[in-house]
Amino acid sequence: MQTTVDSSSNKEFVSTKVFTFHSWTQSESRTLTVVIPEVANAAYGMYTWPCAPVLAQYVWHNEHLLRGKTVLEIGSGTALTGVVAAKCGARVILSDSALYPDCLENCQKSCKANNLTGVDVIPLTWGIVSPPLLQLPPVHIILGSDCFYDTKDFEDVLVTVAFLMNRNVVCEFWCTYQKRSATRSIEFYLSKWSLQAKEIPVSSFCDEDFSLRMDCPGIDSVHLFIITSKKTDRPQDVSAVT
Ligand SMILES: C[S@@+](CC[C@H](N)C(=O)[O-])C[C@H]1O[C@@H](n2cnc3c(N)ncnc32)[C@H](O)[C@@H]1O
Repeated sequence: MQTTVDSSSNKEFVSTKVFTFHSWTQSESRTLTVVIPEVANAAYGMYTWPCAPVLAQYVWHNEHLLRGKTVLEIGSGTALTGVVAAKCGARVILSDSALYPDCLENCQKSCKANNLTGVDVIPLTWGIVSPPLLQLPPVHIILGSDCFYDTKDFEDVLVTVAFLMNRNVVCEFWCTYQKRSATRSIEFYLSKWSLQAKEIPVSSFCDEDFSLRMDCPGIDSVHLFIITSKKTDRPQDVSAVT
């Protein structure tokens, strides 16, 4: 990851980070480079958290599953994972809290920096059934990188996810979580909202040099989960992305 800093802005330090992702199959390897503008020392969603490159790498590794799908990123912040999903050919909607217009502006900047057009950016506050939530088309994949960082929000995040899964039962929530304390858990809320989680080992989609290349302190404590509906009308072995 490369960083360039422009301290001439009056909004703290503005920097640009360059992330490079690799995916591989037996026959080919593919590389994607994404540029993300950030504001250092500002609010939560103004810089890229260690969870984001891990989820973005998973998205790029599964590029073929995203093509043509409708993907909603929640708590986008600088929108690294949503931008990568758009580069995979998904129809992407980025979102952040209605209370943080700066984050929504950041999402727009990230799209512009990567020459993306046609990506919608909407205010979407977790746990609230708002007009932008109701107006969404059926979503195949929800992306959420480091949305479980404050325990007070855990249930609200899952309420929004469960709401969207009720509208499209095969929808999946791909999320990354940074382990900050052994006592934090979403298990109770998963059960309350009829959801289930499966962990995907990070080593199964990241190459050996990934942590070093990303240069994000804390990246080694990031876990990736796929959350799905437990509802009985969800075809058990069918995924939104197959
Ligand atoms: C820890 S940051 C992660 C940002 C980004 N996904 C990343 O990994 O770099 C959490 C994000 O959630 C957003 N957020 C916080 N509370 C929210 C809420 N109640 N509803 C929607 N988004 C929220 C913040 O603005 C921020 O962008």
